[in-house]
Amino acid sequence: MALTAKQMQVQAAHTVLGLESSCDETAASVVRRNADGSIEILSSVIASQDEIHRPFGGVVPEMAARAHLDIVDSLTAQAVRESGLDWDDLDAIAATAGPGLIGGVIAGLMTAKGLALALYKPLIAVNHLEGHALSPALESPCPFPYLLLLVSGGHTQLLSVNGLGDYTRLGSTVDDAAGEAFDKTAKVMGLGFPGGPKVQAAAEHGDPKAYKLPKPFAGKAHADFSFAGLKTATARAYAAIDNPTDQDRADVAASFQKTVSDVIIDRCKQAMALFQKQHPDEPEYRFVVAGGVAANSEIRAALKSWCAREAYALNFPPLKFCTDNAAMIALAGAERLAAGDIDDLSAAARPRWPLDGEKAANNPKSGSGKKGPKS
Ligand code: KG4
Ligand code: ZN
Repeated sequence: MALTAKQMQVQAAHTVLGLESSCDETAASVVRRNADGSIEILSSVIASQDEIHRPFGGVVPEMAARAHLDIVDSLTAQAVRESGLDWDDLDAIAATAGPGLIGGVIAGLMTAKGLALALYKPLIAVNHLEGHALSPALESPCPFPYLLLLVSGGHTQLLSVNGLGDYTRLGSTVDDAAGEAFDKTAKVMGLGFPGGPKVQAAAEHGDPKAYKLPKPFAGKAHADFSFAGLKTATARAYAAIDNPTDQDRADVAASFQKTVSDVIIDRCKQAMALFQKQHPDEPEYRFVVAGGVAANSEIRAALKSWCAREAYALNFPPLKFCTDNAAMIALAGAERLAAGDIDDLSAAARPRWPLDGEKAANNPKSGSGKKGPKS
């Protein structure tokens, strides 16, 4: 019997369970990609490990892996329950397979493999960075190609996102990730963990001109980043203050935050020039931001006004999808499934997994520190 157009459309929808466990958030989500490419988030749950890592001022990999293991089963069941679907309604199981902290990645990926095996569903091993790269589509359509700034605790990269699975790295950090610089700066000043929001809060009442800090690579005709020198200069500036007051901390935080923001805008301008060379005929250029540091209000405002000045289209995922989440992993899984690209159960957990393979326009020798060289 021939299928009606409506039945065919129903058949072509893809509903995917996604799991995320590559750093310090355990997350599970069910996302549906409709036949017309529109996206519905049916559920999205996240368990943060902040409380566990707070006393150490950073993520402790072994403790992170154990915490993922403790909660991944119940969180996954919760995501399916909250989606209103049954396990049988899922078309595939997706999980982050890297890059990230290996113990955590294994916890999520093995859970996904077990489910795929038990439910007779395909497995999709998702690159965490691809999840971030596609995440703006969780909010609103985001047509290819676009220039992506990915700024988080583990990654700082500028990528040309040309299409699904087609990424060219235009620049990345040669030392620390931006979020790592925020976290370490907060630690030095005793502001707490995670550092980004603490520095932002402290900066609110500070003078961004109080300290003159270095702007690594400013004006250089490439799109790489460096944060190690800026981080050290900030720590030195703070150490030089006798009996620092709250106002001193606010001034250092505001100066640091403004400098990071300036550096990011400078690097994005360089990357946009490279992107435009690669895509000379686009009627409109699109700029997209993802990763936890994109939650920073100073950086958001600076990027918004730069894009407005240059008339670039701008997509900011909502804050909850800027930081690590499983909806972006389920989305990447659904896009892969729609493209007929699935994995078998031998898919490996990969602590390092560059998104662009060999295509990096520029390949820095060193990765970023705190959470391991991830890419
Ligand atoms: O994307 P994410 O949740 O996890 C990965 O690292 O993959 O990003 C976390 C990072 C942390 O370094 C955190 O300090 C930073 O994002 N962050 C911020 C802000 N909120 C989170 N950095 C600056 N300002 C913020 N408001
Ligand atoms: Zn991330």
